[in-house]
Amino acid sequence: MTDILSLSKEVDIPYSDFEEIGKGASAIVGKVSKNGETIAIKLFLRPDLYLSSIQKEFTCISKLNQNNCTNIVKFKEVHKFDLEAMLQIPCFRNNQNIYALKSIPRHVSDVYVFELEYLRGENLEDGYKQLSDYQISSIMKDLLIALMECHRCLIVHNDISLANAVFNNQNGKTVLIDFGCSQEINESSSCLYKCDIYSLGRVFYFLTTRSDDMKFQDCQIDEELTSMLSHLTSCNTASCRLAKICLMAKSSPNCDLKEIYANFF
Ligand SMILES: Nc1ncnc2c1ncn2[C@@H]1O[C@H](COP(=O)(O)OP(=O)(O)O)[C@@H](O)[C@H]1O
Ligand SMILES: [Mg+2]
Repeated sequence: MTDILSLSKEVDIPYSDFEEIGKGASAIVGKVSKNGETIAIKLFLRPDLYLSSIQKEFTCISKLNQNNCTNIVKFKEVHKFDLEAMLQIPCFRNNQNIYALKSIPRHVSDVYVFELEYLRGENLEDGYKQLSDYQISSIMKDLLIALMECHRCLIVHNDISLANAVFNNQNGKTVLIDFGCSQEINESSSCLYKCDIYSLGRVFYFLTTRSDDMKFQDCQIDEELTSMLSHLTSCNTASCRLAKICLMAKSSPNCDLKEIYANFF
């Protein structure tokens, strides 16, 4: 497997028409055109601070791409570009966050870029309250498949959230993205798997109840869990029951996603 430290710096930037889609603490994601094809790029802003986490994300996403799971974002290539060369291109120079790299105290001249398939649609955070029951059930199924695949590959995602899933309204497919917090683990019984399942249950809770996703921001985790479970008690649809089972994963002695999946789909 490639070590990103061994990449050589490139000065020919193959992209045009960069349009920002999302920005997190360490990266900007945008849509670009490369050789006539539309792709997404994840551009890491501070390799001086985040190099080891970029390497971890690369390792996990590469491993997950070996098996062609359609509910996990497709990874294409990784590159290291020269910042000055990138800023020669107007669409990058005009992006404030990218341009600001010029003036950070410890000047960074490398820009790491992951090329990904461009997913049409929106992340779930942007429109989950408007989804139909049918769409919700299919999103839940797709996310369960994606997380089963991660765990089968001995990878925990560690950041399952509404923002890290993209739903395409046209084909009804949901894809899990953002392996920036993920890690490979050795033993199959780690409680980190259960934490992923709990976070999935939390996403399912927001989807099924259409509750405001900021509602628990000041809550302790046990308070949050009690509140979600009591809200779900009054509902006996399959989606609500699935949300409940995932939320209870943390306290159940053995929680198997494959079994959960088989019981619901
Ligand atoms: N391959 C992609 N295709 C389309 N949109 C994407 C893609 N990857 C990410 N996004 C969008 O960009 C946002 C940020 O991407 P993400 O990988 O989660 O970055 P961060 O690590 O900064 O959270 C996502 O919430 C999603 O809306
Ligand atoms: Mg994210």
